[in-house]
Amino acid sequence: MTNPFKFGTIVSEDFFTNRQVECQKLSQIIASSNHVIMIAPRRFGKTSLVNKVVTQTKRPVLWLDLQLITNVSDFAIQLMKQLFKKYPFERLKFLISHFRIVPSLSIHPITNNVEIAFEPRVDSFVHLEDVLNLIEKLGEERARPIVVFDEFQELISLEKSLDKRLRSVIQFHKNINYLFLGSAESLMKQIFENKKSPFYHFGQLFTLDKIPYHDFYNFLITHFEVLSDNANEITEKILEFSNCHPYYTQQLAFHIWLTLEHGNYSDDIIETIVDYIILLHNNDFERLWNTFNNTDKRVLIEIAFEQTNLLSTSVSYKNGSSTSTIYSALKRLTEKGILIKTDKYEIDDPFFKNWIIKKRSTS
Ligand SMILES: Nc1ncnc2c1ncn2[C@@H]1O[C@H](COP(=O)(O)OP(=O)(O)OP(=O)(O)O)[C@@H](O)[C@H]1O
Ligand SMILES: [Mg+2]
Repeated sequence: MTNPFKFGTIVSEDFFTNRQVECQKLSQIIASSNHVIMIAPRRFGKTSLVNKVVTQTKRPVLWLDLQLITNVSDFAIQLMKQLFKKYPFERLKFLISHFRIVPSLSIHPITNNVEIAFEPRVDSFVHLEDVLNLIEKLGEERARPIVVFDEFQELISLEKSLDKRLRSVIQFHKNINYLFLGSAESLMKQIFENKKSPFYHFGQLFTLDKIPYHDFYNFLITHFEVLSDNANEITEKILEFSNCHPYYTQQLAFHIWLTLEHGNYSDDIIETIVDYIILLHNNDFERLWNTFNNTDKRVLIEIAFEQTNLLSTSVSYKNGSSTSTIYSALKRLTEKGILIKTDKYEIDDPFFKNWIIKKRSTS
């Protein structure tokens, strides 16, 4: 039997759980002329959800992960490479011949991929502007393209004022839906929610929550029932541990499935597998821990032990930390993705949380 759980990469088809409401809402927005700004903590399922919805539209989708872009010229080139995957070569070649600076095109003899190179220029934004306007033009001719900028917060580090220049071009586009996805919450909010930012309220804000308990429960139990009489208990315990975080739920479920498949059920199966995964990551957790200052460490310990009075005045002055120091630590840790803020602050990774608890309990 194939393991029905998957973690780390995009999930689709049978690996994808529910999210019906989100899928419907997202489809409606991209069927209109609006753009989408999707913000959620790391590994909540942004890419998987958008991938599912845009694939269903059957429209041309140009997907760019800005984490992998090195400069503005590269931005233009990668976008063009996406175009060559979706549109006929000859048509694009003709349109590109009208660029202000015409790039050289060649076809790789082995992979058949199109290689693109621009003459180096002082201001390479011209290349990007031409490519973006070309996509708009293609949208006039055929189905409206969808342009996805994944990890969009990385734009800020590419070049000064790139946000302003990018907006100045794409604000005129009527035939494209732009989707901006991002995980560094504060940076994304700075780009789209700050009144002074060029991208202020540029599209419909779409926040993604964890997968609802009942949906995840049904998804897990259906698979565990095949292997175990204790499916209900196993499922409940997994969700209690992972708190419905999409990635960590799948990670734990994956390992439990492997163990059950080999007939190794035990009453403490969850604890055993959790310990095993923590051990796998022990070095990473130690390295991560050593990057924190003392206030960060104190805040993390208190959150790990679910001491809810973290910010009450009586405690916040203890150990010499002022309320503002604690607030800065919370902000810093949230920006780094170590903490997520739902109705309260929680440690994003339940395995890291348990690592902290175990270390503190044995020290
Ligand atoms: N709808 C879903 N059903 C089941 N599992 C999911 C779903 N969405 C996400 N996951 C789990 O979360 C993992 C991360 O998903 P995905 O890469 O789509 O998230 P992301 O928010 O884009 O992450 P990143 O911040 O790393 O870009 C997946 O590998 C899968 O294990
Ligand atoms: Mg992603």
